[in-house]
Amino acid sequence: MERYKKIIEELKKRNELALKGGGEERIQKQHEAGKLTARERLDILLDRDSFCEVDRLRVHDCVDFGMDKKKFYGDAVVTGFGKIDGRNVAVFSQDFTVFGGTLSKVFAEKVCKIMDLAMKVGIPIIGLNDSGGARIQEGVASLGGYAEIFLRNTLASGVIPQISVIMGPCAGGAVYSPALTDFIIMTEKTSFMFITGPEVIKAVTREEVTMEKLGGADTHCQISGVAHFKGKDDKDSLMIARKLLSYLPLNYKEKPPKIETNDDPKRKTPEIKEMLPSDPRKSYDMLPIIETVVDKGTFFEVQKDWAKNIIIGFARMNGEVVGIVANQPKYLAGCLDINASIKAGRFVRFLDCFNIPIITFVDVPGFLPGTAQEYGGIIRHGAKLLYAYCEATVPKITIIVRKAYGGAYDVMSSKHIRGDFNFAYPTAEIAVMGAEGAVNIIFKKEIEAAENKEELRKKLIEEYEEKFNNPFKAAELGYIDEVIMFEDTREKIIWALELLKNKRLKNPKKKHGNIPL
Ligand code: HXC
Repeated sequence: MERYKKIIEELKKRNELALKGGGEERIQKQHEAGKLTARERLDILLDRDSFCEVDRLRVHDCVDFGMDKKKFYGDAVVTGFGKIDGRNVAVFSQDFTVFGGTLSKVFAEKVCKIMDLAMKVGIPIIGLNDSGGARIQEGVASLGGYAEIFLRNTLASGVIPQISVIMGPCAGGAVYSPALTDFIIMTEKTSFMFITGPEVIKAVTREEVTMEKLGGADTHCQISGVAHFKGKDDKDSLMIARKLLSYLPLNYKEKPPKIETNDDPKRKTPEIKEMLPSDPRKSYDMLPIIETVVDKGTFFEVQKDWAKNIIIGFARMNGEVVGIVANQPKYLAGCLDINASIKAGRFVRFLDCFNIPIITFVDVPGFLPGTAQEYGGIIRHGAKLLYAYCEATVPKITIIVRKAYGGAYDVMSSKHIRGDFNFAYPTAEIAVMGAEGAVNIIFKKEIEAAENKEELRKKLIEEYEEKFNNPFKAAELGYIDEVIMFEDTREKIIWALELLKNKRLKNPKKKHGNIPL
């Protein structure tokens, strides 16, 4: 028994050491930098006392550069399983206090172990990133470790939700693990993501840029679109991760959990009429319309500061999770451009992966014209959104609020690409293009020949508007299932969702499609 007593004491000692990470001094440094430790973060992310750690006593096996004398239990990453709102998740939390949170072979093996189990049992994985990247002393073994993680991120894509929270540096190829996951949450001021840092940029291009400007939370939430959410500090970022998870299923075979919201499914929504301007040329804000329709207080916007001409986000309708995609006339008149197509395309694919119905609010005058867009490849980027909507087999409900012009009409979940219920308001205008542009093209010769050109142009525009600036033609053709009144929107959508609850639709068998990446 004496022998076991010694082992138990040793176990206690090792566990205590592991819990201290890189030691008091480094923990203090971490706090001074405005960051929590890897374990403090897990305490906030997970339900109280739910964390079960694995591999706490693993150590690296590097012997070069005197590393054999420097070992820390757990080796720079805390891994395990816990619960969020009572549901299982797999987690890893990089420990910056140990070798700057850098990735060793053993570190990668720990992460891969929980990823493999998360896949087997079908639970989401959340990674908290705070790392100096590849552990230089381990050389290619570290690079191999990254690649093992990238492979698993890719194989897990569409099987289980993957969320990355960036809470410190994330540089070089290390950024590609988060980039392969479904959502990235960044923390203001303390998190950075870049492929090459300011020093390298200065040496190569002479361009001078700060870490913050190059790869801070604002940059990735507003300019690059790499990140989806921004937290004010560590705690805020972790709470965003918890909230996000509440809208997601555990894996692709399940549906997201229903949560009663106590909002009447038959609540009328007459205020929408007042939100639309009487002049169809005037812009307005689509956001309050969405907020009026969904269960009160449930709209959770994604990438709200990037490509603002399209709105995406999660919400609940009668307690069930839905995904919202909506043109935003307040920015660029709601035109589709490169960024908007990429933003909404990826979101539509995510929703389809995880059985979340898509509700699309349409007010789109077309694709944004200009050489910048054409040279930037709007053709292939716009095709991403089209492809995503076409292949999606989840319930698809569309509401044409106002304009649905040209190719953008087809793209925005039209009937022709398997929209299940396509509704339109009386304010809907469904046409190849706006009246003015159309008249200038089809009556060019007549207008040029006329004595009073402007008078004729005006008359023809009025005639065109009369004919097309309404939902009747589309309704006659069956492209619109019903012209609905503003006040019935919520009730109609909830009715349609209920009807589509058991929708079954399969795409043709194939290895995989070739989305225009
Ligand atoms: C080994 C590293 C390290 C690294 C930091 N450390 N980066 N150890 N390999 N890559 C160690 C430091 O020696 C230090 O150890 C501790 O971590 C904390 O680092 P500090 O520099 O004191 O902290 P700070 O001032 O906050 O700066 C953090 C940092 C900086 C911005 C991350 O350390 C840095 O720039 N490191 C290099 C980053 C980098 O170039 N990594 C390779 C990227 S390429 P002690 O013992 O003193 O506490 C890459 C490729 C991935 O990652 C490829 C995937 C395919």
